[in-house]
Amino acid sequence: MKKTQFKGSVILNPVPVVMITSKNLKGESNVFTVAWTGTICTKPPMLSISIRPERLSYEYIEETMEFIVNIPSQKQVRETDYCGVVTGRKNNKIKEMGFTMNKGSETNVDYIADCPINIECKVKQIIKLGTHDLFIAEVVQSHVNTNLMDEKGKICFEKAELINYCHGEYFPMNETPIGKFGFSVVKNKNLEKEYDIKYGTKGKSKKFFNKK
Ligand SMILES: Cc1cc2nc3c(=O)[nH]c(=O)nc-3n(C[C@H](O)[C@H](O)[C@H](O)COP(=O)(O)O)c2cc1C
Repeated sequence: MKKTQFKGSVILNPVPVVMITSKNLKGESNVFTVAWTGTICTKPPMLSISIRPERLSYEYIEETMEFIVNIPSQKQVRETDYCGVVTGRKNNKIKEMGFTMNKGSETNVDYIADCPINIECKVKQIIKLGTHDLFIAEVVQSHVNTNLMDEKGKICFEKAELINYCHGEYFPMNETPIGKFGFSVVKNKNLEKEYDIKYGTKGKSKKFFNKK
């Protein structure tokens, strides 16, 4: 395939889209939307978010060095967008969205109970980059809706109806995987059966399992 060159912005896509909650020292809470986020370390568990200094959330997080990542489901796509276009300087977004808030257990921040997954974080470092500053944080606790847990204690993210953010648009995450970690080197007919039973794909997983 012939390639064309694209300059000017980072086209790393798709990415997750999350809502970040924070609380300032006066006890005021805020929420805003972030797409520039990612896992950066397994042990200690760490993630990063990039924030423009003009955001109200920047002030709150810099003040307390704490925030919570709330992963929305597709049901919260409107709320996710709204919290990303309206500033907490003018509106009380948490109140407007009617979010149910729970107290974090390891931070003084509240999390959005309506979101299926919430990750409590403590900031370790802030690195100035340019338009955005990089907030590097350690994960100190995570909260997961119990209906997403299977009997082996695995989190079934596919049941959470998550959102992929891609080049300015929100897409639903597909419920059926097209492979699994290491499947490319596994020669095991059982994997194929296991997938067809788990996801009701009736032989469709053959197309990616045991393929030479
Ligand atoms: C899909 C989406 C992704 C966004 N990602 C980021 C981001 O990664 N970093 C950032 O600083 N702002 C991001 N924004 C913009 C902020 O969420 C937005 O400016 C928000 O109103 C700031 O709220 P605050 O002033 O209450 O903190 C994003 C907005 C949307 C809609």
